[in-house]
Amino acid sequence: MEKRAFIKSYGCQMNVYDATRMADQLRAAGYAVVEEAEGADLVLLNTCHIREKAAEKVYSELGRLKGAVGASGAPTMIGVAGCVAQAEGEEIIRRQPRVDFVVGPQAYHHLPDLIAKAGAGAKPVATELDEDKFEHLAKPQRRAVTARGVTAFLTVQEGCDKFCAFCVVPYTRGAEVSRPVADVMDEAAQLVDAGVREITLLGQNVNAYHGADGRGGTASLADLVGRLSQLGGLARIRFTTSHPNDMGEDLIAAHRDEPKLMPYLHLPVQAGSDRILKAMNRKHTAEAYVELIGRIRAARPDLALSGDFIVGFPGERDEDFEATMTLVRDVTYASAYSFKYSPRPGTPAAGREDQVPADVASERLQRLQALLTAQQKAFNQSIVGRTVPVLIEKPGRRSDQLVGRSPYLQPVHVAASAGGIGEIVDVSITSAEGNSLFGEVPAGRSAAA
Ligand code: 5AD
Ligand code: SF4
Repeated sequence: MEKRAFIKSYGCQMNVYDATRMADQLRAAGYAVVEEAEGADLVLLNTCHIREKAAEKVYSELGRLKGAVGASGAPTMIGVAGCVAQAEGEEIIRRQPRVDFVVGPQAYHHLPDLIAKAGAGAKPVATELDEDKFEHLAKPQRRAVTARGVTAFLTVQEGCDKFCAFCVVPYTRGAEVSRPVADVMDEAAQLVDAGVREITLLGQNVNAYHGADGRGGTASLADLVGRLSQLGGLARIRFTTSHPNDMGEDLIAAHRDEPKLMPYLHLPVQAGSDRILKAMNRKHTAEAYVELIGRIRAARPDLALSGDFIVGFPGERDEDFEATMTLVRDVTYASAYSFKYSPRPGTPAAGREDQVPADVASERLQRLQALLTAQQKAFNQSIVGRTVPVLIEKPGRRSDQLVGRSPYLQPVHVAASAGGIGEIVDVSITSAEGNSLFGEVPAGRSAAA
């Protein structure tokens, strides 16, 4: 009987993408990739180390999996992948001896080998940082692209050289590496052939992309977006996540000139106080960020801006936090993610003695989130009454509904008669509730693309 494997991903979109690549590897190794842990012969936890809470989830999940058995009744093989695997390595097996192998994000091409070794009773740990990861993964026999819908992630850049004082990514994902343009184009073409209409280019620092262009030079992210725009079946391009200091003029111009590039930008600032930005090693001021947003909005006035914020970074005083609130009021976000600072082992800020008391950080987070939620509501409300092109993605919770996305990444619910999955339909937005929009297709109007 075919063995069954289940992959559970936590954390960021890059992990979601990595899971698709690992699934391809597992299929090549003879596994059927299934949607639930129950009865699986192999469970792979694809973990996140970004904040303590995320990392601890792994151990509670491992505890739950201890007694798991596969279809044959033999104990389920358990592997830990992702950033916790990279950061903690063998320690994971010490803490939870039921784990059979550990594989860091740059060693996924070793999966079949690790599974074989684990099956033979060894407890292999593969956490070397290998900058040729994509090259290995890109070997043709492993390229079977599995598209599960009309939207897909495509990692074009991995790792980070920025070393923000709070962040584990430079340690878990290694140095910044860009994939060659040809490689990205190839994978994008395969995705489009498989029915994908929207691709989100991923990278921890995606706007620092500088992939080999095949002519001895390098291409910027704007160049790559330009190339991808020429793919006929591809309707929408997005990218995430970006650093303000890598926001080149050509990328700003692409937001004005390239109709397939969606008017949505995730550009984290983290804090609004220059003192804290400096301590975070962000290498720009609040004013420079505000000015940059002004230039981007001049190029694309309807751009939906998103960001990340950390409150309670060591040494953050009331006036620093107020500067963050002021920046948010000045800039106004369409959506945003905000977190309480979480000390991460091995990062510079974790060792600081001026940690902010938990209750102070909680109170600040509440205030910031109330402001960001109000801004998101106002942004969603501003779309009501407008007609926007919606890419229909999947059936809705109700059978008579479909769900798609606006150009601004908002989920849009429409009647099932509005169009087919994969179509772009002009939808007249009638209301906004929670994070979602609701709309209808005006009579006599048909699919736009
Ligand atoms: N504590 C809290 N939030 C963090 N982030 C990254 N590291 C930490 C940390 N140690 C947040 C940042 C980043 C997002 C992905 O997670 O806001 O942009
Ligand atoms: Fe988590 Fe960051 Fe690793 Fe993504 S890159 S899995 S968010 S630690």
